[in-house]
Amino acid sequence: MPAPVAVLASGTGSNVMALADAIDAGHVAARIVAVISDVADAPVLVRAAARGLPALTIPYDRSDRVAWERQLAEAVRATGAQLVVLAGFMRILTATFLVHWPDRVVNVHPSLLPAFRGAHAVEEAIATGVRITGVTVHLVDELVDHGPIIAQEAVEVASADTAASLHERLHAVEHRLLPRCVDLLARGLVHVDDGRAVIADLPADPPADLPATLRTSMTSPEDAR
Ligand code: GRF
Repeated sequence: MPAPVAVLASGTGSNVMALADAIDAGHVAARIVAVISDVADAPVLVRAAARGLPALTIPYDRSDRVAWERQLAEAVRATGAQLVVLAGFMRILTATFLVHWPDRVVNVHPSLLPAFRGAHAVEEAIATGVRITGVTVHLVDELVDHGPIIAQEAVEVASADTAASLHERLHAVEHRLLPRCVDLLARGLVHVDDGRAVIADLPADPPADLPATLRTSMTSPEDAR
């Protein structure tokens, strides 16, 4: 029985589309029950609707963010979602929202956390001159881009890279890594132990396209610690 998943997104929605593709291909034990944006004219809403996914807006309310988070939580609860995926969702969620899905809200971020938290991770990687950055998929706590890390994958930074060219390669990794992690979560294979994500009950022969960090975890669950 595929796990019902709600996706929250503020932007173009390429990760939502990649997740939907992976689900349609039978690679993820989940189904998207809603795509919700805080931005009424976000392209992700048009793309989701065109694909037949239920899409709605809960417009961000700066004047009363607690009420906004309650409204958002209610909208997600109404879908029956057991898992919440943040795919380019540009708002910080607090306990008001997170308490409803403990260790069941997952985010994708375009850096190797804890480096470069926040909305400008790719630009900061270029400006800082790091040679390696990457992608992190993690469970969400109340801090910004913080929480138990499920998977990371490194991406080299070329000297000729711009933020746009680097982000394009990061996106390609995100589109593979996020669905993988959503599948693990949907199948109940991730739990949190002492603040760290542990991937459990793993097949002896993990798929070849699985990122190295996850493969290691699969070979020996203890390595995930
Ligand atoms: C991604 O790079 C994601 O890591 C970050 O926001 C971006 C969203 O891209 N949190 P998209 O809207 O999925 O194309």
